[in-house]
Amino acid sequence: MVVKPKITPISACCLPGEGSTINPNPAAATPQIALEAEKLSFHYGDETDAVDRVDFRIMEGEAVALCGHNGSGKTTLMKLLAGLLKPAQGLVRVSGVELNLRSSREVFRTVGLLFQDPQNQLFCNEVWEDIAYGPRNMGFSDAEVKERVRLALTITETEHLEHRPIHHLSGGEMKRVALAGLVSMRTPVLILDEPFNGLDPASSTRLVALIRHLTRDHGYTMLMTTHQMSLVPEVADRMLVMQGGRLIADGSVRELLTNIPLLEQARLEPPSITRYFYKKALMENRKPERLPLTLDEALKWYGGKGRLSCIF
Ligand SMILES: Nc1ncnc2c1ncn2[C@@H]1O[C@H](COP(=O)(O)OP(=O)(O)OP(=O)(O)O)[C@@H](O)[C@H]1O
Ligand SMILES: [Mg+2]
Repeated sequence: MVVKPKITPISACCLPGEGSTINPNPAAATPQIALEAEKLSFHYGDETDAVDRVDFRIMEGEAVALCGHNGSGKTTLMKLLAGLLKPAQGLVRVSGVELNLRSSREVFRTVGLLFQDPQNQLFCNEVWEDIAYGPRNMGFSDAEVKERVRLALTITETEHLEHRPIHHLSGGEMKRVALAGLVSMRTPVLILDEPFNGLDPASSTRLVALIRHLTRDHGYTMLMTTHQMSLVPEVADRMLVMQGGRLIADGSVRELLTNIPLLEQARLEPPSITRYFYKKALMENRKPERLPLTLDEALKWYGGKGRLSCIF
C-alpha cells in the first residue's frame, strides 16, 4: 500500500478578513488516522533517550499543539514523524502506512515539516526558486508551479521578497519564506516547529488565521510546537505535553491549559490571562474555576461587569 496524498486547494481569498466564503463541508466525513507514533524512542549517540516510548494518534483535520520545556524532545519527535530520523525503537505511521525507506518518498508528498531554524530549510539562492523547489520535485507542470508559488507568496505576504537572495533575508522573513515553501507543496499533514518564532505580531496573527483556515475549512492536519502559550488556544484544539522525552499528557487545550499543577510540573505556564484569573481566585480564597484561555474569552465572560476595564 502507498501513502495517498490528499491535496486540497488553498484559497488566499478565503483567509478571514478578506471577504471569504468558508467551505461548509470541511474534512472527510469519517476522519482517518493521519499520524501515529507507537512506542517511539530515539537517542543521539550514547545519550539518554531524547524521545522515550511515545504513543499517540492524530486524526485527519486535527490541530494539535506539542508543548514542552527546552530539550524535552519536541524537535526530535517531529523529525521522527517526518522521516528525517530513524527510530531506535517503535514506529511511525502516516495515513496508516509505516514509515520506512520505501515509503519515505511518498511521505514527502504527504507530510511537510517546517524546521525550527529556517536556515536549515532554505537552500536555493533565491526566494522564488526555493518556494518552487517542492512543487517542481513533485512533478507539477511549470504553469502549476508558478501558480502555487504565486499563491504561497500572497498567503505568507512575501511577494516583495520574491527575487531576494536567501542570505539577505532577516530571521522572520526566512521563517515566512520557509512557510511559503510548505504552502506551495500543499502537503495535507503539516508539522510546524516553532512557526511563530521571529514573526512580528501582525505576521503571527496572519499565521494563526492561515492555520485555522487550513485545518477548519480544508481538513489539513497540523502538529505544531510553540513556547507562546497564549497562541495555543488560538490554533489548536488538542495538546500534547512532553517532559524529558516522555509524553506526560494528551488532552484538550482547555483541560490541559487550566491544569496549572500539570503545567508547573512540565515547566510550562498557561497564557497570561489564564494565570491572572487563576491567581486572582487563589488570592480571594476561591476555587479557580471557569478560567478563560484568551483575552476575547475573558472579555466575553467577565468584561461586561467592568472588572477588566481597569486592567487592560
Ligand atoms: N544533534 C544532536 N546531538 C545530540 N543531542 C541532541 C541533538 N539534537 C538534540 N539533542 C538533545 O536531545 C534532547 C531533545 O532535543 P530537542 O531539540 O528535541 O528538544 P526540544 O524540545 O525541541 O527543545 P527546544 O524547545 O529548545 O526547541 C536535548 O537534550 C538535546 O540536547
Ligand atoms: Mg525544538
